[in-house]
Amino acid sequence: MILCFTLADVCHAYQVLKKGGLKDENIIVFMYDDIAFNEENPRPGVIINNPHGEDVYAGVPKDYTGNDVNVSNFFAVLLGNRTAITGGSGKVLDSCPNDHIFVYYSDHGGPGVLGMPTNPYLYANDLIDVLKKKHASGTYKSWVFYLEACESGSIFEGLLPKDLNIYATTAANAVESSWGTYCPGEFPSPPQEYETCLGDLYSVAWMEDSDVHNLQTETLKQQYELVKMRTMNESMVFGSHVMQYGDIELNNENLFMYMGSNPANDNFTSTYDNSLPSVSRAVNQRDADLIHFWHKFRKSPEGSPRKFEAQKKFFDVMAHRTHIDHSVELMGKLLFGYENGPEVLNAVRPAGKPLVEDWDCLKIMVRAFETHCGSLSQYGMKHMRSIANICNAGVEKEQMAEASAQACTRIPSGSWSSTFSGFSA
Ligand SMILES: *[C@@H]1O[C@H](CO)[C@@H](O)[C@H](O)[C@H]1NC(C)=O
Ligand SMILES: *[C@@H]1O[C@H](CO)[C@@H](O)[C@H](O)[C@H]1NC(C)=O
Ligand SMILES: *[C@@H]1O[C@H](CO)[C@@H](O)[C@H](O)[C@H]1NC(C)=O
Ligand SMILES: *[C@@H]1O[C@H](CO)[C@@H](O)[C@H](O)[C@H]1NC(C)=O
Repeated sequence: MILCFTLADVCHAYQVLKKGGLKDENIIVFMYDDIAFNEENPRPGVIINNPHGEDVYAGVPKDYTGNDVNVSNFFAVLLGNRTAITGGSGKVLDSCPNDHIFVYYSDHGGPGVLGMPTNPYLYANDLIDVLKKKHASGTYKSWVFYLEACESGSIFEGLLPKDLNIYATTAANAVESSWGTYCPGEFPSPPQEYETCLGDLYSVAWMEDSDVHNLQTETLKQQYELVKMRTMNESMVFGSHVMQYGDIELNNENLFMYMGSNPANDNFTSTYDNSLPSVSRAVNQRDADLIHFWHKFRKSPEGSPRKFEAQKKFFDVMAHRTHIDHSVELMGKLLFGYENGPEVLNAVRPAGKPLVEDWDCLKIMVRAFETHCGSLSQYGMKHMRSIANICNAGVEKEQMAEASAQACTRIPSGSWSSTFSGFSA
């Protein structure tokens, strides 16, 4: 069983499972579904996840799309609670005590949070609570969770218990970005007409591995090692540390139990025969939107409305980033002093400790910030650690509101305002 989000990664993941022999009734797909027929897609109705790849969009079931892709539906699906679902196909994870569950999630993220195409975003502690609840209901045997997002390690670090029969791997540790791949200007690059990255490094690594190997004999551990080497090694300028969490022993099991296996790969014996195509460079996932507008700007004809629009978008995004970065920094200085502010905000807790002790505090503080400074939005998720540290330092809600009000003398308008797209709305 699978749940996944946004972009070409999702469609590719579906194809892996489908070729592995899983039935559609056992696969649940969440995707925003905004790119296949978007005017920015140079091949309408087609999505590729590799420069030489085939269409991965064809046949993908659209269980939850658009605004139905949200936290409440996601949790209801995981818990198998049909009455709590609104919209979508109504498919839920109706699992039995002997079932194996596979969840693959790919989106933007930040310390302690995962992006959704809709608001609010998903907080790590709420996800962990759902996993505990599902475990208590006794409706699965084991569960594998693959997660691609910036700072994805922070979703499980110090939070995922070892006794839930859940094994998770993440694209990055708790303090670093994950990376896009097959990006314009990199090698190998997407076909010339593309202005976006085709996939994400960790996701493409596990899927291209699953595409060619015999998953009846390859173990989760072997895949983890391969993916880890492809996501960070000495020949790469950029990369992230692929991590494992939860019940690590589960990684001795074969991938087959979670993803099936394509019969065409039956004769593939050595999983360490590294014939995978190489990816030598990557783009910080957080910069993927900037890169897109930049390439669009660069490639549009001089003086065209398209060029003007791309330039405006690029400057808007840059201005929002600067506003958020400066506001957070200034707020830190107001709360902890000019010298100590940055130090407190940037502190990283020791490995094994969760991002924050009091998640309710984190949510309240995010809300306070957004009320005065506008939406953190996708980019602003990177500041979740700073806000968590404000909670860890015992700051009161009122102090936070006051510092935010002082740091942000104007409330941004339009798409960055907190009323329009508040992170925690
Ligand atoms: C999730 O989507 C459904 C259907 O679009 C909607 O009724 C529900 O309010 C949404 N929940 C959240 C938290 O946005
Ligand atoms: C399912 O969701 C509904 C509505 O949110 C809730 O009232 C009910 O308690 C849930 N059922 C279970 C078994 O959790
Ligand atoms: C695997 O090898 C056997 C024996 O050589 C052969 O009969 C079979 O067709 C091969 N299967 C595939 C999928 O290539
Ligand atoms: C190092 O990473 C690059 C880029 O992902 C990959 O092509 C190469 O195979 C990796 N090296 C090893 C030893 O896995």
